[in-house]
Amino acid sequence: MSADASPIGIFDSGVGGLSVLRAIRTELPAESILYLADQAHVPYGPRPLEEVRAFSRAISHFLIQQGAKIIVVACNTASAAALHYLRQEFPDLPFVGMEPAVKPAAEHTHSGRVGVLATPATFQGKLYASVVERFARGVEIYQDACPGLVEQIEAGNLAGPATRAILESALIPMLRQGIDTVVLGCTHYPFVIPLIQEIVGPAVRVIDPAPAIARQVQRVLISRQALNLSSPGRSFGQAVRLLTTGSPADLQQLLPCYLNQTAPVEPLCWQADQLRFC
Ligand code: DGL
Repeated sequence: MSADASPIGIFDSGVGGLSVLRAIRTELPAESILYLADQAHVPYGPRPLEEVRAFSRAISHFLIQQGAKIIVVACNTASAAALHYLRQEFPDLPFVGMEPAVKPAAEHTHSGRVGVLATPATFQGKLYASVVERFARGVEIYQDACPGLVEQIEAGNLAGPATRAILESALIPMLRQGIDTVVLGCTHYPFVIPLIQEIVGPAVRVIDPAPAIARQVQRVLISRQALNLSSPGRSFGQAVRLLTTGSPADLQQLLPCYLNQTAPVEPLCWQADQLRFC
């Protein structure tokens, strides 16, 4: 088997994809990771799908230029807007994307009632409609776009009153309907799982899709003989390179709150719809 030390490229509108990065680090500690947060444009959720598709294309192009061997679209919104298109545009590279975990939720629910939290763009996309159509037969789905939640999580407010108010207004009506499962259809939301669990109580199952995505990345790399076999597990600082189109200082300062890690963050700039190092 050959070894491939090239990085795994991961992107999101902001810090949400760090929940996926965390799971990939757990599953594949020897891999190098290049993480790109497009914080100049966060949130993606309220934007038109075409605009998110254009950002996703430019970001993928940049990650490929940097030598990525696989791209993880660690954003449900970008996956809804662009995953299919990216696979056509860049046919030589494998892409792994997110889709709301409606299938496992529908398989495990006892009450037959499931809540889904995602962004407006994810709910509008064909991917979500197709997942519900294929897997949610006979299951009642209750949706909420949690307005303002991504912004609170971007600001590092993972447990304050504003974040709690958004989650309560989404989840309490769902609880009244008898949901026993909550699907997190936005990669930002796993950072507020403790608060969600506190609101819904221990009897309601909260599904974080990140571990399943990490296992999928592993399967794809094995099938392409592209695992990094040349280095053993490495520290976060050795393995991960972080880039943002927003404020590197802000992301650097908030990193301990998301990942319990400190690391440098490099700036990237958008110029004429392309990404460059500033
Ligand atoms: N984390 C993203 C998602 O999974 C994007 C949220 C946003 O930027 O609105 O949908």
